[in-house]
Amino acid sequence: MRDNVQEDERQNWNRRYQEESHDTFEPDPFLLNAYDDFIRPTFAKGGTALDIAGGMGRHAIWLAELRWKVTVVDISEVAFEKAQRKAEERGVKIDFLVRDLRSFDPGEEKYDLVLVFFYLQRDLYPALVKALKPGGLLVYKTYTEEHKTKHAKTVRHPEYYLQENELLHTFLRLRVLHYRETVEEKGVAELVAQKR
Ligand SMILES: C[S@@+](CC[C@H](N)C(=O)[O-])C[C@H]1O[C@@H](n2cnc3c(N)ncnc32)[C@H](O)[C@@H]1O
Repeated sequence: MRDNVQEDERQNWNRRYQEESHDTFEPDPFLLNAYDDFIRPTFAKGGTALDIAGGMGRHAIWLAELRWKVTVVDISEVAFEKAQRKAEERGVKIDFLVRDLRSFDPGEEKYDLVLVFFYLQRDLYPALVKALKPGGLLVYKTYTEEHKTKHAKTVRHPEYYLQENELLHTFLRLRVLHYRETVEEKGVAELVAQKR
């Protein structure tokens, strides 16, 4: 049963990436801001980064161009192929692991930076913190309930949306450097937090 669910998820994402008519490799504006405000001031020379559910690698490739050593984990082989092609085109290397995050252990104190954009898997929260080195940064952005009720064209399963203040409360053990929820164009929450 669980294997079927995993296979559905993989096929579903592969189909979406195959059907995508215009692939976007633009980094999310929040990453650009977080980079200027928190990431570069903390890690001027780059470091090691983990991009959780990193898709076609838009953030991983951008970071690799800034000399970061980046690992992407994503379930989709199609995203993997597109990411590899784009990385080659741009002359950078990224490590791309085609894995299901529901059975993935990112390890302990391996990364200076952990990114999560538009992916929510609550049982992974502790592993995100564990994967950070002391002083490392977690940068997280995804949809809130607000998005589901006001903006979403297709409503996915309720478990894919953050509750009010969820990221803030979940990562309070870290030093929260930035937290914001927006309700205008999209309902999203953004967090930057540092492991002590
Ligand atoms: C909305 S996309 C976000 C992609 C990327 N973070 C970005 O912002 O461009 C969600 C991603 O989660 C991946 N994904 C979904 N379920 C997954 C799972 N169980 N394990 C690993 N990746 C998964 C999909 O393949 C997809 O690339």
